[in-house]
Amino acid sequence: MAKQKRIYRCTSCDGVFPQWMGRCPQCSQWNTLVEDILGEERLVAGAQLRQDVPVSLSEVEITDQARRPCSIDELDRVLGGGIVEGSLVLIGGDPGIGKSTMMLQMAHRLSLNGMKILYVSGEESAVQLKMRSTRLGIDAKNIMVYPEVILERVKEQITSIRPDLVIIDSIQSTFSSQIEATPGSVTQIRYTSGVLMEIAKGMHITVFVVGHVTKEGWIAGPKMLEHLVDTVLYFEGDSTGAYRILRAVKNRFGTTGEVGVFEMKTTGLHEVRDPSSLFVHGLGGESAGNSVMATIEGSRSFLVQVQSLVSKTTFSMPRRITIGSDLTRLTVLLAVLEKRAGIFLSQSDIVVNIAGGMKVSEPALDLALVMAVASSALDRPVPRATVCIGEVGLNGEMRPVNHMESRLREAKKMGFIQALIPEQNLDTMVSVVGVKLLGMPHVRLALDVLG
Ligand SMILES: Nc1ncnc2c1ncn2[C@@H]1O[C@H](COP(=O)(O)OP(=O)(O)O)[C@@H](O)[C@H]1O
Ligand SMILES: [Mg+2]
Repeated sequence: MAKQKRIYRCTSCDGVFPQWMGRCPQCSQWNTLVEDILGEERLVAGAQLRQDVPVSLSEVEITDQARRPCSIDELDRVLGGGIVEGSLVLIGGDPGIGKSTMMLQMAHRLSLNGMKILYVSGEESAVQLKMRSTRLGIDAKNIMVYPEVILERVKEQITSIRPDLVIIDSIQSTFSSQIEATPGSVTQIRYTSGVLMEIAKGMHITVFVVGHVTKEGWIAGPKMLEHLVDTVLYFEGDSTGAYRILRAVKNRFGTTGEVGVFEMKTTGLHEVRDPSSLFVHGLGGESAGNSVMATIEGSRSFLVQVQSLVSKTTFSMPRRITIGSDLTRLTVLLAVLEKRAGIFLSQSDIVVNIAGGMKVSEPALDLALVMAVASSALDRPVPRATVCIGEVGLNGEMRPVNHMESRLREAKKMGFIQALIPEQNLDTMVSVVGVKLLGMPHVRLALDVLG
């Protein structure tokens, strides 16, 4: 084995340091340095032998990437149309969110299309897998299960079985006997991922790797795995609730930002084809503190409901809590409300929640956040059947957002008949029949709409 040198690696920024420190000098995060070994594994990870010598770009032939749909539309959309031969895909999420369930259901569909699948389970026994598959109504001859944690044995089986798809559940439980590091450590995970990458590229096998995540992020550091793999899918949602959102955060073979929405039932993950009806119930107008906006995720639009509760604080520092939206963004918008619209919130605790476990990070959410907070603070509801879409600038000005037509079409489909939008959007957009547009130049004017 090559000489190995001990180092410390930051799990947040991937910086490398000769000694342990409580705080990373590069990214200033606390307790992120973990012991690692600098050695041969770097080479392994980089040695994806696809060709022996450089060739001229003009001589490279485009071989159509063999892409196979899984026949689960919500998953195919997130993957960019299906699984790609020879790709390495990471699927991450909290324990219990449904990663193993998703993998088994995908394996089932692909096996029906004639693919040979090896399901390596380092966490569950073959009997446990069988119990799950019975519950999901899956019985497939083409799915081979292999409860194993040692990488070398897994590789041996892959070489002899030659499956079309390998599922490693999970990366944290798989380890190499060639590396002197504990299972689940950064060194092990990087080495293992490097070997799996070689298998994917060298043998043209699609490899799916399951990874557990803690609240703080990846157990073994986000950067190294995300850099290595072709595609990163992330399962979001509350594992105690029924709805799960699968999001592509990186995809070398498709667009990112696409989401798939699923509902977890006893019989497995079921596709939700109409997420708007899942996240928004009714047309509002009754109670204060609620607003509805239409968000764009990848290639489609759907409605989400913003809920807010503004109450008098009992603390010296009022509390601000966001679930599903960005806290910094909310803090900025509260300052805008105070300075530009005269709504004083410095003595109030403020909670903002996006109903149904959805996360929205686009600026077009601003107006809905502002309206929900102001509506709760003033105890005046947003009018019935009204959507609020728009970015709010620091001067309180409304800034235009993209894809307004498709947002409004989705709102119309769900029965909304009025839209509060930035005035500037009116100049460039085509109107949507049946939706009355209220173009707003400034957030102060938008607040006048509250009932
Ligand atoms: N008997 C059951 N009936 C209904 N849902 C179940 C049952 N058993 C497990 N689940 C659901 O499956 C989830 C676990 O899914 P799993 O695929 O094992 O998650 P992960 O692999 O991400 O840890 C549980 O959180 C629960 O929602
Ligand atoms: Mg699992």
